[in-house]
Amino acid sequence: MKLLLFCYLLYVGLVAAIMRARGVHAATPSPRSAAPGTIRRVLVIGATGGTGRELVKQALERGYEVTAFVRTPAKLALTHPQLKIVRGDVLDAAAVQAAVAGQDAVVSALGHRRLFVPSRVQTEGMRNVLQAMEQHHVRRLVCVTALGLGDSVGKLGLLATLLVYPFILAIYFWDKSQQEQLIGASELDWVIVRPGVLTDAPKSRSYRHGHHVGSYLSMSRIGRADVADFMLNQLNDDTYLRQAPGIAPQQIERAESGSHP
Ligand SMILES: NC(=O)c1ccc[n+]([C@@H]2O[C@H](COP(=O)([O-])OP(=O)(O)OC[C@H]3O[C@@H](n4cnc5c(N)ncnc54)[C@H](OP(=O)(O)O)[C@@H]3O)[C@@H](O)[C@H]2O)c1
Repeated sequence: MKLLLFCYLLYVGLVAAIMRARGVHAATPSPRSAAPGTIRRVLVIGATGGTGRELVKQALERGYEVTAFVRTPAKLALTHPQLKIVRGDVLDAAAVQAAVAGQDAVVSALGHRRLFVPSRVQTEGMRNVLQAMEQHHVRRLVCVTALGLGDSVGKLGLLATLLVYPFILAIYFWDKSQQEQLIGASELDWVIVRPGVLTDAPKSRSYRHGHHVGSYLSMSRIGRADVADFMLNQLNDDTYLRQAPGIAPQQIERAESGSHP
């Protein structure tokens, strides 16, 4: 029994160490500030997902010209004079190149729902996105990942650290942590946004963000609408340039982190 417990804790520690090592860290150096630019055209990757739809909707509300990159256009039941829907798979480098050309920024809510099936879609998809951005001189990237990676390891609460990550998300987060590593190594002006568990709660704009967000004990939940709101704020804000802030609801966290008015 003791041996079993020891092996289990060893495995938990190993998973945490890998997620920590592969993800992005707050100390990631910023080689330069982004040149102040005007962002008008935004490409949304993962636009048919829960967060992606919010990104599209809210970006249109903010007056951006939005291109939604989707595998199944019928899933995005939205029409708007400023919205262009482009069909494509993020694993298709040529399709990604074509979608990225002419954009001012890319926001990504790429994910997949088969948690136990090994997938490289986030890593390989992001590799295509990064290459296309470099080639077409599109500098600003905002990408959602999750609390629990890099220097936020353990910050999704004890249950997540002991059970969810090692047994449910290990395969899923292998891909996700590699995605963070790729972004962190790029020369682009990127911001990684790390939420806790996502919900479909309406936009509250009442959330905290920063490197101290998250708890080693409790699991935080945040609405996709608020995550999208924070992600879109990063398009013209250099506060977290080349960093990976967490985001969580206002009422759970205390002190040290920033907050949205
Ligand atoms: N769920 C949570 O509690 C939670 C917590 C923390 C972080 N996150 C992360 O937050 C992000 C957004 O989560 P979500 O639940 O809002 O997303 P989601 O509903 O799972 O949507 C994922 C999106 O990625 C797209 N996608 C997947 N493979 C693709 C491919 N090969 N080519 C093009 N598009 C592809 C999907 O398109 P299709 O519609 O065609 O499948 C969908 O639009 C994900 O990265 C997720 O891991 C989630």
